[in-house]
Amino acid sequence: MPMEHCLSPEDVVEVIAEAFASDGAQEYLGEPVTQAAHMLQAAALAEQEGAGAALIAAALLHDVGHFAEIAHRGDLPPGTDKKHQETGASWLAQWFGPEVTEPVRLHVAAKRYLCATEPEYAGILSPGSVHSLNRQGGTMEPSELVGFEAEPHAPAAIRVRRWDDAAKEPDAPVPPFDHFRPLLRNLVRSPAPGEPGAG
Ligand SMILES: [Fe+2]
Repeated sequence: MPMEHCLSPEDVVEVIAEAFASDGAQEYLGEPVTQAAHMLQAAALAEQEGAGAALIAAALLHDVGHFAEIAHRGDLPPGTDKKHQETGASWLAQWFGPEVTEPVRLHVAAKRYLCATEPEYAGILSPGSVHSLNRQGGTMEPSELVGFEAEPHAPAAIRVRRWDDAAKEPDAPVPPFDHFRPLLRNLVRSPAPGEPGAG
């Protein structure tokens, strides 16, 4: 998808809504929910916990890097880590600030971190999530922990991660995408002077 800096906030939200409606209807990596239902559930959990708007948006958008239209990585060999967290964060950075994009970028690192620091955490992961963990580098090495903890958005990424892990319930009520439109619209930033699309 081309960089689309000039879109209005309403247009940005529409681009995302269309991706949820098309790519989001796909199965979510062997889980009993679609990709869109999974992400909407994660956002609903964030909202129920009283998270701020940026964090609710991060929960909602954390897996956009899995959407085929955004990822363009279907040509990688099977078993390759497609780094959906990086793809998604970069795509979202066209329109959203780091308080949204950084928890997205770090949500896989947060899984690797929690596996290393909470003995019971690995036990709650779904089989699909355990499978992808191995591709993603496995449990963090002790030498990596300090680097993750130094990330300003690490605590936010851990919160997104916990909602991500809990958002795989086939029977959970899922709010429609439209429920989150106003929240997303308010988070779309204007291009800074000098950035493409400014002025
Ligand atoms: Fe997820």
